[in-house]
This record gives sequence, structure tokens and C-alpha cells, in this order.
Amino acid sequence: MSVQEYLDKHMLSRKLEDAVNAAVRAKTPDPVLFISNHMKKSVQSVITKVKARQILDSRGIPTVEVDLHTNKGVFRASVPSGDSSGMYEAVELRDGDKGVYLGNGVAKAVKNINDKISEALVGMDPTLQSQIDQAMIDLDKTEKKGELGANAILAVSIAACKAGAAEKEACFSQAFYLLGGLNNKKFMIVPLYRHIADLYGKVSPMLPVPAFTVISGGKHAGNNLAIQEIMILPTGANRFVEALQMGTETYHHLKAVITEKYGTHDCNVGESGGFAPNVSRQAILFFREALDLVKEAIRRAGYTDKIQIALDVAATNFCIGTRYDLDFKSPQKSGQNFLSAEDMVELYRELCNDFPIVSIEDPFDKEDWEHIKRFSSTGICQVVGDDLLMSNAKRIDRAILEYACNALLLKINQVGTVTEVIEVVKQAKEAHWGVVTSHRCGETIDSFIADLSVGLSVGQIKAGAPCRGERLEKYIQLLRIEEELGDQAVYCGVDWKQ
Ligand code: PGA
Ligand code: ZN
Repeated sequence: MSVQEYLDKHMLSRKLEDAVNAAVRAKTPDPVLFISNHMKKSVQSVITKVKARQILDSRGIPTVEVDLHTNKGVFRASVPSGDSSGMYEAVELRDGDKGVYLGNGVAKAVKNINDKISEALVGMDPTLQSQIDQAMIDLDKTEKKGELGANAILAVSIAACKAGAAEKEACFSQAFYLLGGLNNKKFMIVPLYRHIADLYGKVSPMLPVPAFTVISGGKHAGNNLAIQEIMILPTGANRFVEALQMGTETYHHLKAVITEKYGTHDCNVGESGGFAPNVSRQAILFFREALDLVKEAIRRAGYTDKIQIALDVAATNFCIGTRYDLDFKSPQKSGQNFLSAEDMVELYRELCNDFPIVSIEDPFDKEDWEHIKRFSSTGICQVVGDDLLMSNAKRIDRAILEYACNALLLKINQVGTVTEVIEVVKQAKEAHWGVVTSHRCGETIDSFIADLSVGLSVGQIKAGAPCRGERLEKYIQLLRIEEELGDQAVYCGVDWKQ
């Protein structure tokens, strides 16, 4: 090919001339940088490579991280993992070789990305999220993503979503330049949460109310508390930045309250960062004593009436037959700490009366539909389905039909792709349910769920305590988003149920 033929084939003279004209119109102070950006942005983005590796989550258990390369940049994502798992959720693929990471390695999932998924996605446009997700679902061919692994598929899906957002930034800024706009980066950004809102079908972004874990128990801590989490919700804040301050101050007051009552050793924290005090081992007192500590911390912080309380009972962990063993972690059981489901309904009723509890997650075993329905019908508080639903569309359908609960705990790794996550959120919202975007106990520093909660305007996010890096990364990303939105930022506050 001659030089002239090459120039003609790629229309180089015309493209360069357009870029120079755009720079002149924008009167940019740095025309060379402007022209190079302009040229780069006029190239359509395609996926060029997908490369995964095994990393560790916050518990030191292997998980998947992926770098998705396009001709514009590299976009990184990693996936979380949790304690609770069930037969309805997407399959987390683990190697099972007991000699390596005690069987928890994810080398197979990593290989699936580097070989099969990479090959299938190279050449695709990263803005076409649903096509990318469908390509992986088609490649997997199983109902629960067991062939490639939901951990492999979700990591790629999130990385593609980030790449798609970056590509939209390019289109937007190019249009802006052509209109003769300012060379001001602030005007050029189409952030991840906006891209997610577009994928959903344009909801107005809103900052969610954070549910900070302040006391940990259940499977998340080595204390004797059966209930998995006590959370605080700063619904009375006006902005997210204020909510973070209120939650963090209360967390520190709680540390002082626990130290005074039990000593410093009871301030050790559980997997999500909540304190793990050893409370009395008497069934009725289990909950009350822990809630009293939190109520006192809220009072000392000066936020009575501005902070409300949520529980994640995770009752599946201590349901034995038809009874609930509140002493399930104790090696020497007194045998006196069993409650019937009826007793539990009564206990929740009393606690909601005596404490500012506005939400209870998994109050009964995941198959105890009868009692969760009975409790929901009292209308005392939001009833969140986590283990009950496993973020599974069919379980959500059943719960909607049977009025079993009125909020979805959204664990994205139980779903497996961004497109399907958006679908289950639509399903829940159409039923006028609340939606709580959730972390897992095994987290990474990926803050995707923060952007997801804003982009889908879900109203609630649960990402652990206001401490520990992997938890804070989500809350700090929400701070950044609020700062970026400026006057446009809306914090859900009292409208947290959305
Ligand atoms: P998990 O817990 O990540 O251990 O499943 C989170 C939750 O139950 O909300
Ligand atoms: Zn839960």
C-alpha cells in the first residue's frame, strides 16, 4: 500500500483537520493535548483482552480480579464472597483442591476468564452491557452459571460496565467540544453511576441511606450473640457526608459504652467491622442487651430521633427444626435458649416497640415462609429477604405473590451479571419493595456497589461498619459522588424506603 493509499484508507487528513478545527473553536490553552484526546475519543472502543488473576478477599480467602482491556484503557473489577450460600443462588466456582488454599482457590474461574470468556468478548463494544452479559450466559449454558463460575462472569460484567461508562464519557465530551464548550473536565465526565442509571432506563440518581454495622454476631463474630448484625441508619441526616459523620461518631461512642461495661477485649470487631461484645446468655436478654448498648451510644452522640436501627437476624443460622437456638455458638448449651417461631414474632414485636427498629432482615429460617409472612403482615417494620430470597428472581416472585417480605437484600454475586442485577431491582421496585444494596462479609476494595446504589436509586446500602478499608471504600465513593453532584445531590434520608 502506498503512503497516499494508507492516508486515504484511514481518512487521516480529514480527521486531523477536524481535530484542529475543534481545538481552535474551543480556544483551548493546550491544543496538542486537546487534539490527542479528541482523536482518541473519536475511535470506537472495543474490548481487546480480558485478563484475570486470583486475589484475596478481606477474610484472606481467594477471589477473582479482572482487568478488562479496551483500546482506550484498562478497567479493573473484583468480586466479593459471603458466608451464607444456598441452592438458588448463582454458583461460586472454587477449585476444591484441599491442598491449595484449603480448597478455596479460584484458579478454574480465572482460567475460564483468560481462555473462554476473553475469546468470546474480544471485539465487542463495552457499552453494550446486555450483549456482553448474554454472551457469557450463552457460553456458560447452565442455569446457575456453574460452568464458568458466577465469580468469573460477575467480575467481567462489572469491569465491562466500568469500561462502558468511560466510553460514554468520550462520546459526551466529543459532542460537547463540537458545540464549542469549555475545556473543563468537570463537564466531560459520565460517571459509572450515570451509566448504570442509563442501563436501568434513566432513574434520577440518589444517595442511599447507609446501614452501618455497629454490632456483629452470628457467623460473623466469635462472641455469643446469635443475631448477625445490628445496624444504624442515619435517616435524619440532610446529606450523605452528614450521615457518615453521624454513623462514625456513634460507632466511636459505642466503643466507649462497650469498654465501660465489658472491658476493651469486647471491642474486637467481627468480619464486617461491628464490635463483638459478649452479652448475657439468656435468650430474651441476647437482643435487648446489645440493643441497649446501641441506644445508649446514639444518645451520647446526640442523635436520638435522627438515627434508626436495623437488624440482620440471619435466623437460618440458628434454626433447629422448628425452633430457634439463640445459644447456637456455645459449646455448653444450657438448653434454655430455644425460642419457638411464635416466641420470635412476639420478641420482634416488643423490640420494635422499645427500640427505634425500622427494618429486620431474615427474622426466620429461609424456608419458614409461614412465620415470615405472619410477621410481615403485622406491618411493624421493613422485612428484608436475604437468605429467604438469595437474590433469585423466582424466589422474589414467590415472595411478592405471598406477601412474605417487603424488601430485597441485593447481593450482586448471587445474581452474576449487571444486566440481571438491574432486572431483579426492577422486579422488586415494581412490587413497591425496598431494595438494600449489600456487600458480603468477604469483600474487596472494589466500590462498584456504591455507584450501583446511586445509579439505581435504591435508597439503602449496607456495606459494614464505618471502619476497615474494604467497607470504607464503598462509603467514601458515595462521598465522592455526592461532592461531584454538588447542588444536584439528593440524599434519601427519611425517604429511604424509596
Ligand atoms: P454474608 O452476610 O456475606 O456472610 O452472606 C451478609 C448478610 O447476611 O447480609
Ligand atoms: Zn443477611
